[in-house]
Amino acid sequence: MDRFISEETAVPSLAPDRAELAPPRRKLFVKSYGCQMNAYDATRMADVLAPEGYDETKDMGEADLVILNTCHIRERAAEKIFSELGKVKMVKDDRASRGLVTKIAVAGCVAQAEGAEIFRRQKAVDLVVGPQNYHRLPDMLRNAETAARILETDFPIDDKFDHLEPPTRAKVASRGVSAFVTIQEGCDKFCTFCVVPYTRGAEMSRPASQITSEVEHLVSAGVREITLLGQNVNAYHGEGTNGTSRTLAGLVAELATIPRLRRIRYMTSHPNDMAEDLIAAHAGDTALMPFLHLPVQSGSDRILSAMNRKHGAQAYLDLVERIRAVRPDMALSSDFIVGFPGETDADFEATLDLIRKVGFASTYFFKYSMRPGTPGAQMDDQVPEDVKSERLARLQLLADEQRREFNASAVGRTIDVLFEKKGRHPGQIAGKTPYMQTVQVDGPDDLIGEVAAVEIIGTSSNSLFGRLVEQTS
Ligand code: SAH
Ligand code: SF4
Ligand code: F3S
Repeated sequence: MDRFISEETAVPSLAPDRAELAPPRRKLFVKSYGCQMNAYDATRMADVLAPEGYDETKDMGEADLVILNTCHIRERAAEKIFSELGKVKMVKDDRASRGLVTKIAVAGCVAQAEGAEIFRRQKAVDLVVGPQNYHRLPDMLRNAETAARILETDFPIDDKFDHLEPPTRAKVASRGVSAFVTIQEGCDKFCTFCVVPYTRGAEMSRPASQITSEVEHLVSAGVREITLLGQNVNAYHGEGTNGTSRTLAGLVAELATIPRLRRIRYMTSHPNDMAEDLIAAHAGDTALMPFLHLPVQSGSDRILSAMNRKHGAQAYLDLVERIRAVRPDMALSSDFIVGFPGETDADFEATLDLIRKVGFASTYFFKYSMRPGTPGAQMDDQVPEDVKSERLARLQLLADEQRREFNASAVGRTIDVLFEKKGRHPGQIAGKTPYMQTVQVDGPDDLIGEVAAVEIIGTSSNSLFGRLVEQTS
């Protein structure tokens, strides 16, 4: 393990009896940006710091430690961090004027990508910790008491998951009935626009037994839905029992046997890793939900090839057909990049065409953003911003129309809903359909955490409205 501590200061070792003293109670404020994997990491950072005496707060002003868990995927996401750090510095200065010490940590993908540059751009930052190193936060914080700045961004040999504290039951309960569990990290695909292979490193899968015990723990504390996460989650190939390797389908089958776990989801999947056993796992009445986030990025073969996606538009359409043959009600969502270098009007039309053919339940569009160090940033034919904006607006219209159609098709149907929280108005509760639509119904709070049949009676732009039919077991 390499550790770089800026400043020449030697770091005194911990007094031996220190760990035996109960830690003082302190407050932790964590703000997470970017993907669900970052959101999961944020919860695990809070878990690892809980035994150190840190209780979470939603008020940055009372925090002894502020962590920004950052995202580097697009330029705007990365730059936002530095303006946010300016605000955090003001809070730190204000607290200092009252004699209070505040440590600022930058975690996540900007930390990994920019490293020590962050200290140069914002001097108030104390710690920079990459996504594979946050299990070391307790040590880093102890060292930060004496050293000015600490950086941990190497890809370590030890596995952070072996060092993370399980959350307390109270913490799990406070986070709700639906939980994320990262099962796979990193990416070997190197799409030419993307920083993830550089910020998250090579693909690795957690052993199946480690995941199963984490899920069992969450379920015993009240979780009823698990979303298995990975940058390429369907490339999962974790260690199973007796030296065998588990596929994602195998892992899902194992998790589906956990009593009281009602729903299993996974994201994000790459089209080239949709194995036959995974498609087959969606058949019939299963805990595996009929919703699949399967980004295609573009509908043009020329652009897909320049993106190094290694699949064409027709292969994607064929895959969707095979999935829907097994699970006719499968709802699909996708990410699209608008204005990748060289994207012509004809390429863009091909994307619209693909969207029309698939019929997505939801879609996410991103204007192409040049990322340093990626091949896309070196390409000629960068598309002007106004063209990107115009194409984005057209995509958005089509997507809104598809989402409205998808939601309208639910009206009149009776659908199972997992209730997650109180609803918008008193006496209402809110939950999700298997297809990730939010549903509001009049119903009692004790249905939260339960699955119940709901007749869908109406829609708004973002939600469905329903009536409880009967409670399923
Ligand atoms: N692992 C996932 C998602 C990675 S990032 C996958 O393989 O699809 C989430 C989304 O951000 C991507 O699907 C892509 O649409 C978008 N994205 C990534 N890099 C981008 C860039 N440089 N500019 C614009 N959008 C980008
Ligand atoms: Fe990025 Fe492509 Fe890997 Fe997804 S598959 S994380 S888009 S490089
Ligand atoms: Fe962003 Fe890193 Fe996730 S770059 S999208 S936080 S993997």
